[in-house]
Parts: sequence; structure tokens; C-alpha cells
Amino acid sequence: MKERNVQIGKSGVLSTPLGLGTNAVGGTNLFPNLKDATGIEIVKAGLDSGIKLLDTAFAYGMGHSEELIGQAIQGYDRGSFAIASKGAQQVTGDSVVINNDPEFLKQAVEDSLKRLHTTYLDVFYIHFPDDHTPKDKAVAALNELKVEGKIKAIGVSNFSMDQLKEANKDGLVDIVEDQYSLIHRDAEKELFPYLKDHDISFVPFFPLASGLLTGKYDNSAVNFADDDIRHSNPDFQGARFAEIVKAVNTLKPLAEQKNATIAQLVLAWYMQNPNISVVIPGAKHPEQVQSNAKAMDVELSDAEYQQIDAAFATFK
Ligand SMILES: NC(=O)c1ccc[n+]([C@@H]2O[C@H](COP(=O)([O-])OP(=O)(O)OC[C@H]3O[C@@H](n4cnc5c(N)ncnc54)[C@H](OP(=O)(O)O)[C@@H]3O)[C@@H](O)[C@H]2O)c1
Repeated sequence: MKERNVQIGKSGVLSTPLGLGTNAVGGTNLFPNLKDATGIEIVKAGLDSGIKLLDTAFAYGMGHSEELIGQAIQGYDRGSFAIASKGAQQVTGDSVVINNDPEFLKQAVEDSLKRLHTTYLDVFYIHFPDDHTPKDKAVAALNELKVEGKIKAIGVSNFSMDQLKEANKDGLVDIVEDQYSLIHRDAEKELFPYLKDHDISFVPFFPLASGLLTGKYDNSAVNFADDDIRHSNPDFQGARFAEIVKAVNTLKPLAEQKNATIAQLVLAWYMQNPNISVVIPGAKHPEQVQSNAKAMDVELSDAEYQQIDAAFATFK
């Protein structure tokens, strides 16, 4: 595997260009039928495959993803991989409210550290913006934790451009995580130029469009259970679904020619995209992680990169 590390923003945090998304590790509020033991195996498969960034969040299983990762990483050298977590969800009884209050975020980090059985987070993201806290104040609180060594890099996720600019008033944001994929390309317009100008790293979420970009779907309609986050996802419905499947299938000859899977080609495309720091595909099985990690060995020529880009030109 290529020994290639990427640096997160202006922080000293390093990662492989491919990390592991863990919303299906303990994320029982997002997907049905998840098993804890499989979740732990997924994390271990990631670390054993040389992946150096685990992306988790309180919201995945309301702490359960972090707890399982805390178990899985026992026996691994904590300094050899990075953990990114996220918070902002305040749970009171049955209600969940987004809160970016400085004191709430500081407590959220402390709680994440306990669940993960670790003394620091490499990245902490404000998972969602609330509608009242000044974003620079929220980030200033995280910067205090950075000075204390409890977190090493500051991230924001799901922020509008205005919220990001407010959050980064003092130049303290290291990394942004937002939806971006070959079929969701809004970030190319305003976000990527801003991030480049401000030396901020970018992590796209849903890079495989929740499995759609792996080439495993044909035109047969798919139905997910009501308690699966894909249940009402428009990408899996009607004409849009058919258009995505058609575009993905045009990559088959290139995949065969390169002795790679379509998922590996797609992941390699992100790794060669200059706007992206770390791509974090999720997985339901350890075998998917092992296969996805091999994308780090797939090299695309400029022409191949352009060919993949062009296959999804209608989604720009
Ligand atoms: N910041 C945010 O608000 C936010 C939001 C969403 C996600 N995220 C993060 O982004 C990560 C990635 O998103 P995601 O996991 O939802 O979606 P994704 O990476 O686009 O797709 C992952 C899914 O694709 C399927 N898959 C993966 N590898 C495969 C392979 N080699 N062959 C066939 N199928 C494969 C698996 O589902 P099946 O086996 O069921 O098809 C897997 O769960 C998350 O895990 C999470 O860490 C962050």
C-alpha cells in the first residue's frame, strides 16, 4: 500500500487519504440489524488494513458507535491512527436539540473521550449548526480544548457558507465535513474555493452515495426498511436512481481493465481529487472495509480521472 499521509488543515494531525466511516458501527438509530460484534470487527479490519482515520459521532447510536470503537481500539497503538468525532446533539428525555453552546460542546468532548477510552480526539467537529450560538464563539471554546490537548483539530459539519465564514473568523477551523460525491457536487461551487483559500481540509460524507456508487445495483427497485436512513433517500428512487445506476455501470470496462472494483475506482477518484483530504467510506461488513482500503493502491492516470468525472457530468 502507498505510504501517503495527508495533513488535516493547519493541525499536526495526519491520516491516510482513506479513512473509515463508522455510522454503521453501533449506529442502530440509522440502520436496522446491526450487530455490535460486527461493528468491532469492521473497526479492527480498518486498522489492520492500514487505515489511519476513524470517523465517528455521538449521533451514531447516541454514543454507541464511540463505545464500540473504544472497545475495538484496545490493543492498538493509539498514536498510530486518528479519531474524529462529532457532537452538538443535546438529549433530554425523548427530544434531541442541536446545541452549539460553548459549555455544551466542551462537555460533549469530555463525554466522547470517556466513551472512546482515550485522552484526546484528533478531530472534533461541531456536527450541526444551531440557530443561535455565534459560530466563532463555539469554535473559540473548541480552541481552548485544543490548547489543553484534548482535541488536536477543529472541524465543522453541515454548516452553510455564512456559518462557516463566521466559524472561521479567527482562522481556527481546520477541517470541514459535508456531503459530496460524484453525484452530489454542490461543494464545487463556493465551498472548495473558500477551503483552498483558507487552508482548510475537506472530508466528503456519503462518498459511495450510501452504496449506490459501488456498482452493485441494477435497475431493479430497492426497498429499504423504514428504520434505514436510505428508506426515503431520493437517490434510490425513480428516474434519478436509474440515471445513477446507468452512469455507474459505464465504469465497468475501466474497472475490469484496471483489475479493480467500481467502488475502488470511485474511491481512487476522490483520493486524486485535489479538493479532498480524506475519503471515509462506511461499511456493514469487514470485507467491504478490506476491499475499500485496497483503493489506496489504485492509481488513476489523468485520462482515467477525467473519464470517471465525465461519467457523472450530468450531476454537476
Ligand atoms: N457529518 C455528517 O453529518 C455525516 C453524515 C453522514 C455520514 N457521515 C460519515 O460519512 C461516512 C460515510 O457515509 P456512509 O457510510 O453513510 O455512506 P457511504 O460511505 O457512501 O456508503 C457506505 C455503504 O456502502 C456499502 N458499501 C461500502 N463498501 C462497499 C463495497 N466495497 N461493496 C459494496 N457495498 C459497499 C455499505 O452499505 P450496504 O452494504 O448496506 O450497501 C456501506 O455501509 C459515515 O460512515 C459517517 O462516518 C457523516
